[in-house]
Amino acid sequence: MFNPQLYNTPYHTTDLSKFKFLVTGGAGFIGSNIVEYLIKYNAGHVRVLDNLSNGYFENIKDFMGLPNFEFIVGDIRNLETCKKAIDGMDFVSHQAALGSVPRSIADPITSNEVNVGGFLNILTAVKDATHLKRMVYAASSSTYGDSATLPKVEGNEGNPLSPYAVTKLVNELYADVYSKVYGLNTIGLRYFNVFGPKQNPNNPYAAVIPIFCKAFIEGKQPTINGDGLTSRDFTFVENAVQANIRAMLIGFENAFGGLDGSELSNDAKINKSINLQINKLDKHEVFNMACGDQVTLNEMIEMLNSISGQQIKPIYGPERKGDVKHSKASIDKISNFLSYEPKFRFQKGLEIVFDWYKTQY
Ligand SMILES: NC(=O)c1ccc[n+]([C@@H]2O[C@H](COP(=O)([O-])OP(=O)(O)OC[C@H]3O[C@@H](n4cnc5c(N)ncnc54)[C@H](O)[C@@H]3O)[C@@H](O)[C@H]2O)c1
Repeated sequence: MFNPQLYNTPYHTTDLSKFKFLVTGGAGFIGSNIVEYLIKYNAGHVRVLDNLSNGYFENIKDFMGLPNFEFIVGDIRNLETCKKAIDGMDFVSHQAALGSVPRSIADPITSNEVNVGGFLNILTAVKDATHLKRMVYAASSSTYGDSATLPKVEGNEGNPLSPYAVTKLVNELYADVYSKVYGLNTIGLRYFNVFGPKQNPNNPYAAVIPIFCKAFIEGKQPTINGDGLTSRDFTFVENAVQANIRAMLIGFENAFGGLDGSELSNDAKINKSINLQINKLDKHEVFNMACGDQVTLNEMIEMLNSISGQQIKPIYGPERKGDVKHSKASIDKISNFLSYEPKFRFQKGLEIVFDWYKTQY
């Protein structure tokens, strides 16, 4: 049920059994990892809303039948479905969307309907929910668009380069306006290329790491779009889960208690209270969620050769439309506000995910 290499560090300090969580897109890659964490730490209730359009029942099937787990097959494009899913929840982690830049270029209308229309439904249902404490949602590094400045810092965005990036920017604008107009408490996490177990390589819009891992396991040459010097701040999924847990709970848990009921040391209390003073997170905030590192595709191929004990050379193809050449995040804001710290750097994450893909083929 649980991957033994993951979630051995708790990122919360309170008893999760008193809280109810909705994870939209919870059958997808990142959502199902958030669910795994919440179930592992005995959350009071974990509800998933997913229409399985890009997620997999396989990702959550182990949790079916648990008394604190519930799966609603439904579409965020339906407001009533969103309202029912949010009813009675304390926290929402909104992950449901159609990811992928190429998908949005092939079909911008559907990406917009799900990512903008669906988002607005969730936000509206959140506005009308009486019980809810906070919604955290999946934003995207694509919002930095054509800005060439590195590292990417919140507040210094360029223009979007794809329909997908437009949808993710619009999410932030709506969350901000709902906060100003209706007083909603929301946090957007701008993910930078997340990878890890449960990310599917067989999907037509699969991401680069699942595709490369599959190629290495099958002893085939992977194809790199471009010259291989494209770089990304690849982020292991446990870091994304940590960010979601911290973002949901900040301000709502006993900041000074340890999980085992013990008190923190005085130094730790002082550090935490300094952080908490800046943590007046009662409106809308966006944070980069990344490692603050930069890895090129060529470097990734070298690491995969070393992990798998092979010497495979990639095939180089044309660059993809809508992609930025380089990406690297500043993680100062999320570290300061949410005490986030990327526990898994790229190499470690790649080893874990490669092990996991080996069990899948
Ligand atoms: N993976 C990344 O590197 C990355 C980077 C930036 C942002 N994001 C964002 O993070 C979130 C999660 O991404 P992921 O990689 O886990 O993708 P994913 O496709 O694995 O998960 C998304 C889930 O949403 C579900 N979904 C899609 N449309 C839906 C609808 N209309 N109603 C209900 N459910 C629906 C899918 O079935 C899927 O299970 C998305 O919002 C994505 O845009 C991901």
